[in-house]
Amino acid sequence: MIDYNERIPNNVNLSENKTLQRALEQWQPSFLQWWGDMGPDGSTDYDVYLRTATSVDPKGWAHFDYVKMPDYRWGIFLAPQEGTRKIHFGEHKGQDAWQEVPGEYRSTLRRIIVTQGDTEPASVEQQRHLGLTAPSLYDLRNLFQVNVEEGRHLWAMVYLLHAYFGRDGREEGEALLERRSGDADNPRILTAFNEKTPDWLSFFMFTFITDRDGKFQLASLAESAFDPLARTCRFMLTEEAHHMFVGESGVARIIQRTCEVMQQLRTDDPIKLRAAGVIDLPTLQKYLNFHYSVTSDLYGAEISSNAATYYTTGLKGRFEEGKLDDDHALQDSHYEITDVEGDRIVKRAVPALSALNDRLRDDWIRDVQSGVDRWNRIPVKYGVDFQFTLPHKGFNRRIGIFTDLHVSPAGELLSGVEWTRQHQHWLPTEEDRLYVHSLMGPCLTPGKFANWIAAPGRGINNQPVDFEYVRFN
Ligand SMILES: [Fe+2]
Ligand SMILES: [Fe+2]
Repeated sequence: MIDYNERIPNNVNLSENKTLQRALEQWQPSFLQWWGDMGPDGSTDYDVYLRTATSVDPKGWAHFDYVKMPDYRWGIFLAPQEGTRKIHFGEHKGQDAWQEVPGEYRSTLRRIIVTQGDTEPASVEQQRHLGLTAPSLYDLRNLFQVNVEEGRHLWAMVYLLHAYFGRDGREEGEALLERRSGDADNPRILTAFNEKTPDWLSFFMFTFITDRDGKFQLASLAESAFDPLARTCRFMLTEEAHHMFVGESGVARIIQRTCEVMQQLRTDDPIKLRAAGVIDLPTLQKYLNFHYSVTSDLYGAEISSNAATYYTTGLKGRFEEGKLDDDHALQDSHYEITDVEGDRIVKRAVPALSALNDRLRDDWIRDVQSGVDRWNRIPVKYGVDFQFTLPHKGFNRRIGIFTDLHVSPAGELLSGVEWTRQHQHWLPTEEDRLYVHSLMGPCLTPGKFANWIAAPGRGINNQPVDFEYVRFN
């Protein structure tokens, strides 16, 4: 269980390590200052119906109640230690998992933790103005839930930095509060986390697609030989599931609403649908293309010696490493990547160790695809002839093999001229974005929803849909 009598709630016996406790208690006001400056705009006095972790038990860990967000009990929760866990991949396979950081991996592990940690406050910053235009109280509450949990994920990574990386770790903890999403001088580390999340469609796409990258990164770190990192990530994954639910169900409700109007008006004409105040399906497809391609880049280059080293040394495993049936060393195996030869896109087998970034991206693609398959049932249900598809892996990429190439969603290599002529059919144009922005505006009466999104099938924690999920004081 988690001790909430402490200033910093935790299940790591923090009070037994006074030095660490003091260091984290010094970081706490800086975190709250950051939350005040960069957290949800104007939300300080709202009472929000939030869940808080009460234990790390995968079932029944959540307690729901009204909380003012600055009073949220951010804390340190690790999944329980599993006896003497063994390293189960790479060159240290069979040895005991590390409870301390081995000196030779110190800087690499620190970098991995900082890079993961940096994404957490970044997404809060990206989403900070969305509360002003929430399509319902239900959605506003979900946004705030995601935001406070991303704040907690930052706590999770800062705990590791403070507990295991000494002075360097404390300095990194400060720097995590100093970088700013989109800042020209001191940006967040990864490009996708410097993009804007300017409207609720972007927010739902982001939580469906980019939080899902979070899931796959955390899942591969949950396999790590460094046991505290593995246990931290395992608990974070239980929170991540809700973020992806918010995104998937949010987009599903937009699709549903558009299909309802298409059925009523008997039209698929985007002009008529926009006049009726809903988001036409081709525009949704463009947003999907955008978020999918930008997030694809987060997995890094297809061929990567760093990825091979992380695996061989035991720092980062594969998705569900423990369920895979092979030698867990991969020295002699191959993996098929998508590559370019002259003017053709081809499949090519490469050493599996070098292709681990691409393999993780493929695992993520399968997971995104299954969500898209669920969305595709909605038009069918309404008799609407439209199906969403994921673009080709090479589409709109800025990292890896396809960086300097132009690839259509269908996977044809294009000239620069052809790309310029066509890309407005595949990515949101300024006009598309302005239209989506024009729909945004607060809809804050309990049980009411903005015109462009359907009500959810059920509320949060068995509360009715018209429950007062946020109270403004
Ligand atoms: Fe997170
Ligand atoms: Fe998340």
